[in-house]
Amino acid sequence: MLRKTDAPTKYYRTPRRFPGLTATVPHMLVSRRIPILAYLFLASLLALLAFKFHLSTRSDGGVFEDEDDPTPFDFALNFLLKPESETSPNVLVLVTTTPSEVRMRDQVRRSWANYTSQAVRVEFLMGIPTKEQLPAIQKESEVYKDMIIADVIEGYYSLAAKTMAMLLYKTRYYPDAKCLVKADVDNVLILRNYERLCEEAVGPVILGKCDVPRSVLRNTTKWAVPEFVYSEPVYPTYCSTGTYVLAGKTVPQRLIKEAMRSPFSNSLNFRKLSEDVIFTGILAEKAGIRRRHINGLSFFEMPEFFCRNGFKTTYSTHLLNDKNPVKNFYKLMKIEGVMCKWWDPYGVRRWYN
Ligand SMILES: *[C@@H]1O[C@H](CO)[C@@H](O)[C@H](O)[C@H]1NC(C)=O
Ligand SMILES: *[C@@H]1O[C@H](CO)[C@@H](O)[C@H](O)[C@H]1NC(C)=O
Repeated sequence: MLRKTDAPTKYYRTPRRFPGLTATVPHMLVSRRIPILAYLFLASLLALLAFKFHLSTRSDGGVFEDEDDPTPFDFALNFLLKPESETSPNVLVLVTTTPSEVRMRDQVRRSWANYTSQAVRVEFLMGIPTKEQLPAIQKESEVYKDMIIADVIEGYYSLAAKTMAMLLYKTRYYPDAKCLVKADVDNVLILRNYERLCEEAVGPVILGKCDVPRSVLRNTTKWAVPEFVYSEPVYPTYCSTGTYVLAGKTVPQRLIKEAMRSPFSNSLNFRKLSEDVIFTGILAEKAGIRRRHINGLSFFEMPEFFCRNGFKTTYSTHLLNDKNPVKNFYKLMKIEGVMCKWWDPYGVRRWYN
């Protein structure tokens, strides 16, 4: 009698038992009997299945670890380099950057950050550069005096750590500034408008593009958020990363305080959540800080504007493909102060109060 395990072996070793099948399948594939369209259809179906499989495996090996890393966040973190500033601005603009983005910083300085006002100060914040990068960074810092190195390891997951570093920096060195504007280096801002926005804002409030979708992605990509990291089906209202304004002197302190007693302090998984969701959503909600959506912040190079007293006004754009701040700042300035017309595309005519 055959053991069960022998059966398949035997089956495959004797293909001649099914001569018709073994002969016709390869033959059919190369012959013209299957029309080319059906063949293509089959191929794309296979590709689609393979892609679905690829996605499903990615969500297993995602961003978040089953075994959380409980390393405490160092709220006393150092700044290895910081500019000496004699001014006491009302609006502190901190730009998220990495050591290697020399060209972008250069273009930012030459374009939107070149704005003379005692009330506004722009500085760049990065994580720790490599040994090779350090000399160039020091030189850049001597020339422009606008560079901050936070004691944070560079990498994709450093975004939340960098924002926390910004809050700590503002609290320690510019406690009297009314507004902290957090901007990514690939954003183009009209500082004059942010200055006015800050003057008019009644804090504590977070201002930005705060009408973004809030549902939590559970299982589509590797960015899927497992329930053990965030259990609610939607995030609190939050303002999209890129550029947002913390208006009110004490907003950074209040967010730091909430972070200290939230999973931010001892869960790497939590700190891997989107930086905007953490600070302008979860922590702001807990701290009781309002978020207010304002028009005129765009996700794309194409500016969004609203009409203020009949004239176009914008705040910022985000460079996706055309990473050229100089050119895009010029584009943005061209529509500033132009009279609104009813047929203008991308116009938003509401103004929330
Ligand atoms: C900033 O603009 C002024 C003119 O408004 C110009 O003289 C100066 O060189 C610019 N600075 C930089 C860093 O491009
Ligand atoms: C995806 O998540 C939904 C609930 O959010 C669940 O019902 C569904 O079974 C999940 N699909 C997979 C493939 O895990």
